[in-house]
Amino acid sequence: AEAELERRFEAMIADEVRIEPRDWMPEGYRRTLVRQIAQHAHSEIIGMQPEGNWITRAPSLRRKAILIAKVQDEAGHGLYLYSAAETLGIDREDLLDLLHTGRQKYSSIFNYPTLTWADMGAIGWLVDGAAIMNQVPLCRCSYGPYGRAMVRICKEESFHQRQGFEILHTLSHGTPAQKAMAQDAVNRFWWPSLMMFGPPDAASTHSAQSAAWGIKRFGNDELRQRFVDMTVPQAQALGLTLPDPDLRWDERSGHWRFGAVDWDELDRVIRGDGPCNAQRVERRRTAHEDGAWVRDSAEAYAAKHADTTRA
Ligand code: ACO
Repeated sequence: AEAELERRFEAMIADEVRIEPRDWMPEGYRRTLVRQIAQHAHSEIIGMQPEGNWITRAPSLRRKAILIAKVQDEAGHGLYLYSAAETLGIDREDLLDLLHTGRQKYSSIFNYPTLTWADMGAIGWLVDGAAIMNQVPLCRCSYGPYGRAMVRICKEESFHQRQGFEILHTLSHGTPAQKAMAQDAVNRFWWPSLMMFGPPDAASTHSAQSAAWGIKRFGNDELRQRFVDMTVPQAQALGLTLPDPDLRWDERSGHWRFGAVDWDELDRVIRGDGPCNAQRVERRRTAHEDGAWVRDSAEAYAAKHADTTRA
């Protein structure tokens, strides 16, 4: 019977029929999705911290309102993604526990500090730009709840990217000091943004199996290259440079060729040894503890409400 179920599952994948929560699925497929969706959800909520850092120091009321909305969007993305993960039979509470005890990962990019206002621009433009490049194909992920959650997330990410570009555009057309601040932010966030796509395909543990299951539609290297090709002309439009002396247009292939990424740095940051890892996880744990009364109140209210409707 198991073989028959497996055969049917493989046929659905081959026919691009979406897998839904009640469908039979191999344990490895389920585990891979829990791992990736949880890591994605954790990235969204940890990702609130580097930008949350600038809400009280935004340079105008308008900028502050936009930044608050963007950080709130990230909280929302986390919520859709935890809900998508829960359809695979795992509790949000358990996923948070895995994050807080360092047993599940989140994106390396959020372990870098946000030192100036221009970093809000660089994060929107580069980090959210990389996120979109990686996430648009995930809208076609074979697992229904994840693919559907990605549709709205990608729309919001596009807005985030535009607002980052606009911050940098304003700064790079401002005073020399503002332009220098924009350039410095781009210099610091460029290479970590390329690392967001994960290790090179040859070193990627999960890529081949995830591609076979229709979870990943493109390899890490392909998406990284697309991101570089998209971003170089945008940097030119901003009047900013990218910190890579080897960056050059390759007429023959029609791609921008770029220099070597420091993969040791990615390894270190993933292992917990980036500039802000300890601070990010500590802040997350504290926020979770501080929010215990909200969860308790919501549960008490739900219990009370359930009783009233029964009466
Ligand atoms: N940061 C942290 N960990 C990473 C990163 C990264 N940038 N890239 C790869 N890894 C981890 C993988 O999770 C995996 O570890 P694990 O086996 O313990 O889970 C290991 O490195 C090897 O990598 P891959 O085999 O290539 O892993 P995978 O097939 O999952 O590909 C990728 C990684 C591309 C990030 C994929 O998981 C993905 O597309 N995730 C969804 C998008 C996402 O999470 N984005 C978060 C940042 S964007 C944002 O929040 C704004």
